[in-house]
Amino acid sequence: MQSERAEVTGTEQIGPYTLLRVARGGLDPGIPGQFFMLEAPGRPLPRPMSLCLAPPAELAFLIDPIGPGTRALCALEPGDRPAILGPLGNGYRLDVERPLLVGGGIGIAPLPYLSEALGQPPAVLGFRSELHAEAAHLVPNAEIVVEPTYVTEVIPPGHDVLACGPEPMLAAVAALEPAAQLAWEAPMACGYGACYGCAVEIAGEIKRLCVEGPVLAAEAVAA
Ligand SMILES: Cc1cc2nc3c(=O)[nH]c(=O)nc-3n(C[C@H](O)[C@H](O)[C@H](O)COP(=O)(O)OP(=O)(O)OC[C@H]3O[C@@H](n4cnc5c(N)ncnc54)[C@H](O)[C@@H]3O)c2cc1C
Ligand code: FES
Repeated sequence: MQSERAEVTGTEQIGPYTLLRVARGGLDPGIPGQFFMLEAPGRPLPRPMSLCLAPPAELAFLIDPIGPGTRALCALEPGDRPAILGPLGNGYRLDVERPLLVGGGIGIAPLPYLSEALGQPPAVLGFRSELHAEAAHLVPNAEIVVEPTYVTEVIPPGHDVLACGPEPMLAAVAALEPAAQLAWEAPMACGYGACYGCAVEIAGEIKRLCVEGPVLAAEAVAA
């Protein structure tokens, strides 16, 4: 885990999301599914973001501007220097034979980097509108569905599912695919186990999602 003030190298609007690119510097991109804490200059609280892409010498994050922290990150401009801490948490296990990536909405954020690590396996991605679905081009070999169709209606059987998305989608994927790997979300203040802000109940015990997750086996959550 390292911390840097990384220089913004560019931003791109993709549907309602912003792809924020920063100079990698000495930061390690980590394992797909791990996350970084990003803090815009002048903002006291960092926000957790999955690594979306790791082009040479850069790191890129796909951000949905849903509140003050994410809006401040989306408003960054080339030359700005957000503080970045990471990589943090546990990513996806990559020792899978027949991977299928499943993403919903901004939950597709870790999938481009995951797809690259796994040799561009098939993916199914679900979005709430055509505008949100513009981000689908970041994930190769993807079947795209837009509500009212849900991704769980098009998951083919016989795959090792690696998923990220809103909680109801993850619960539905877990019911279909008990061996799936799921990336969960919780509000996080520190990202490395110090604040208990991300405490969730896993298998009847209170655990810190930033340390135990964010990627968990579906069985572990259901147990
Ligand atoms: C491991 C991890 C990886 C993430 N990766 C990404 C990513 O790649 N791209 C992205 O856009 N977002 C990602 N998120 C979610 C993002 O961190 C939150 O949307 C952000 O912290 C909200 O901050 P805000 O100040 O903009 O909004 P706030 O005002 O803090 O929150 C707006 C609303 O969202 C709720 N909320 C805030 N954070 C979370 C959360 N983590 N889980 C559930 N509800 C929440 C709040 O209760 C509130 O209702 C990730 C979260 C985690 C835990
Ligand atoms: S975010 Fe602080 S303990 Fe998990």
